[in-house]
Amino acid sequence: MQQISSPTEGEKSPSHDSVVIKAHTSAKETTFSQNRYTHQTSQDQGEVYLIAEESAALVIVHGDEKQKDFGNQILVALDANRFKVKAVKFETQELPFLVKGGEGLYSIIIFQNLLTYINLREVDRSLIDGYCQRYKVGIVAFTGPSLDNEYSMKVGNFPLVMDKKMTLKDLSLNSESPVFHITKTKRTLSGILPGEDWTVFRSNHSTYQSIALAKTRTQDMLNLVPDSKPILHTTVIHDLGHYDGIQRVLFGSDFTLWLHYILFLDSVRFLSGGRLSVDLKRYILVDVDDIFVGSAGIRMKRIDVEAMLVEQDILAKLVPGFRFNLGFSGKFFQRGTDEENLGDERLLKHADKFWWFPHMWNHMQPHKYNSSSKMIQDMKKNKQFAQDNWIPVHKGYAVAPHHSGVYPVQEELYSSWKSVWQIEATSTEEYPHLRPSRNRRGFIHKGIMVIPRQTCGLFTHTNFFREYPGGRSRLDKSINGGELFRTVINTPFYLMMQKKAKKSNRFMCSGLDKYPTCNSTPVETAKKYFEIFPKEKDPLWRNPCEDSRHLEIWSSKKSCSKLPQLVVVGPQKTGTTALYSFLSLHPYIRSNLPSEKTFEELQFFSGPNYNNGLDWYMKYFPGGKNNSDQYRFEKSATYFDSPYAATRVHALLPTAKIIAILTNPANRSYSWYQHMKVHEDKAALNHSFYEVITAGSDSGRSVKSLQKRCLEPGKYATHLYRWLKYFPKQILIIDGNQLRDDPVSVMSKVQRFIGIQPRLDYKHFLRYDSRKGFFCIIKRKGKSECLGKSKGRIYPPMEPRAVEYLNLYYRQHNLQLHSLLENYGLTVPDWLVKDLARPPQG
Ligand code: A3P
Repeated sequence: MQQISSPTEGEKSPSHDSVVIKAHTSAKETTFSQNRYTHQTSQDQGEVYLIAEESAALVIVHGDEKQKDFGNQILVALDANRFKVKAVKFETQELPFLVKGGEGLYSIIIFQNLLTYINLREVDRSLIDGYCQRYKVGIVAFTGPSLDNEYSMKVGNFPLVMDKKMTLKDLSLNSESPVFHITKTKRTLSGILPGEDWTVFRSNHSTYQSIALAKTRTQDMLNLVPDSKPILHTTVIHDLGHYDGIQRVLFGSDFTLWLHYILFLDSVRFLSGGRLSVDLKRYILVDVDDIFVGSAGIRMKRIDVEAMLVEQDILAKLVPGFRFNLGFSGKFFQRGTDEENLGDERLLKHADKFWWFPHMWNHMQPHKYNSSSKMIQDMKKNKQFAQDNWIPVHKGYAVAPHHSGVYPVQEELYSSWKSVWQIEATSTEEYPHLRPSRNRRGFIHKGIMVIPRQTCGLFTHTNFFREYPGGRSRLDKSINGGELFRTVINTPFYLMMQKKAKKSNRFMCSGLDKYPTCNSTPVETAKKYFEIFPKEKDPLWRNPCEDSRHLEIWSSKKSCSKLPQLVVVGPQKTGTTALYSFLSLHPYIRSNLPSEKTFEELQFFSGPNYNNGLDWYMKYFPGGKNNSDQYRFEKSATYFDSPYAATRVHALLPTAKIIAILTNPANRSYSWYQHMKVHEDKAALNHSFYEVITAGSDSGRSVKSLQKRCLEPGKYATHLYRWLKYFPKQILIIDGNQLRDDPVSVMSKVQRFIGIQPRLDYKHFLRYDSRKGFFCIIKRKGKSECLGKSKGRIYPPMEPRAVEYLNLYYRQHNLQLHSLLENYGLTVPDWLVKDLARPPQG
């Protein structure tokens, strides 16, 4: 078999060596790159097997209560490292498809319990093994609890034996193993290993190589011959694949031993050929918020400032250039006890030894300001304070008190920061939500980079060890292999926030010094963040009312009752304006206010308006807190075929109802062409409809672009699927032909769908106008008001060859639409039934 390898993240840059947790030996790099491949070519069969670009980890978890918790821990570990995961509950779920379109979907298969793998049904076992052999994918398995009385057992048909129920001590690592990446191999974990139920592995077969080894707890007592070599038992074993072509790593215990967590991540990286791997480089920034804020008695004294300087020097030896980043609110300077005021002075005396960033002058939360001019005034005061006291504020970074105004966004904060401080970066714990902390992400808004922060568990109320919930030992645990340790392992960007540095500060930082690697200025860190995670640049605005913490830092003048409950998503040219006008006739239904640029349509979720933010969107919805009797809706026909709109609408309006109107896609396409012709689009003026829809790839840009807008939205199944994924039970599909010919019954269906009361009988409001050829609104004194000239245009019928071409073009899409609608229990429009009944031509 020929293998084609490509560089991995870990191999990228030699300069990483100075900052990585553990430098690589070249021997290990070689082994690793041999293992890595992107394409696996079978010369025998001349086939190329690929692993999908966005491959995932397939985890077979155990549902029973005793083992559930560990299953979750595995999933959380993978999720925290941003790996895609597919979890399957062994007892109740079938194995998923492993291959799609010739591509392997999973880069690794993980069994929470080795016995599940060993005892798989023959058909499943050969599926899994066949997949692993073909796509060179490895398996990780954990032995799980011993539930029987056996102390020793053979591992399935493998030349391997497990000895169970062991108690162990003194764990060491085999530095020959190629698996290590994060793990440092030179150290031994001396002492008793946690847990009473370890499994160790024995084999004479050359396919097995030990990764971790330990002694039995009683070994030294039984060792009667002095200086004799200790017997080491293998607790984690690597099957190199010589036996059946599959590499495996088997663990003799779970994550109770902290080291297993990183050994697991190393195994995942190795066995997935480096696909599920993160760079070792860590960016550490320690913000010390509220440096002068706080009541007398808990503020920093001189001794604390000195301690912080000492600690900073120690950290700077490990992380070149390390500085604590101090956040100040000038108003509170010198507001402590005499001793603490001396501490404040000390801070200023050594101001140039730290980095500084502004909070608000009086620590006021931005969402509480009534005007941006007051906010600007306070920011200027803080700036003046910094200038008067020679505080070297690090350019471009600020943090808002309580993160207020950052997310959910208070636009005034962004604009004031820009104008007073030229802020380029900030950080928050709130995006998208505080918990789980592993899922915090960044975004860029109005030119300000917002990056996620972690906390180390120290807050204003935990200034002393005695106040720490669970005491010092709990904090100790968090640092030594616990939550904080894992956060550093999982998170390449570790922005830590801690409150005023008292004694615990020193302690915390000395705990961290085992892991951190690199310290850059906040703005540089933010830039690096979005270089590494470019997909995060675009924000996803969520509903502030869905998260109580967000509500707390959202202006009381804003209200979710301004958001729409119904969104008419299009597509264009299907009768969306007619539906919009008919809905607006209802006294309790209100549309958004018109936009200056796009009129009745806000086009928020589908285009650049989304970057204006939530405040911009909400200002188009009338009323305030007390408009609950109004049913609000929005219609933008550009949403239907936008690749982003469904996700965005769902994020902001998860309970909204959605209406899509479908007409024959060929007619829709022709209507768009006519629309563009009236708007004097050059391509439409110079080319017939048939020429546009059949134009080849060598045609001009304007023709291609018109062709795209004519044809793409009509691929209904593709677009509708995106909406159904998020709103499977909240969608109404309207038959556009029925809306045109019988709007009265359509409107009664719509009213039932949205549950509005009272329900209007639209026969009193609409009537057919023979001059217009469409239904129009009945006005006072019996007059009709029809939609404008641009709706219901008169134009010649489509050329027969265009009809024929489009019928064939949309045939497959229409077939897919039919089954999609049926699968979701939605009514199939008449035009679609008729269309599919016609024999295909061509
Ligand atoms: P044509 O102008 O090509 O006939 P939209 O509002 O989504 O842009 O859709 C415009 C289409 O709505 C019109 O396309 C027309 O066929 C259809 N329509 C349905 N009911 C209508 C009505 N009562 N008045 C005008 N047009 C209507």
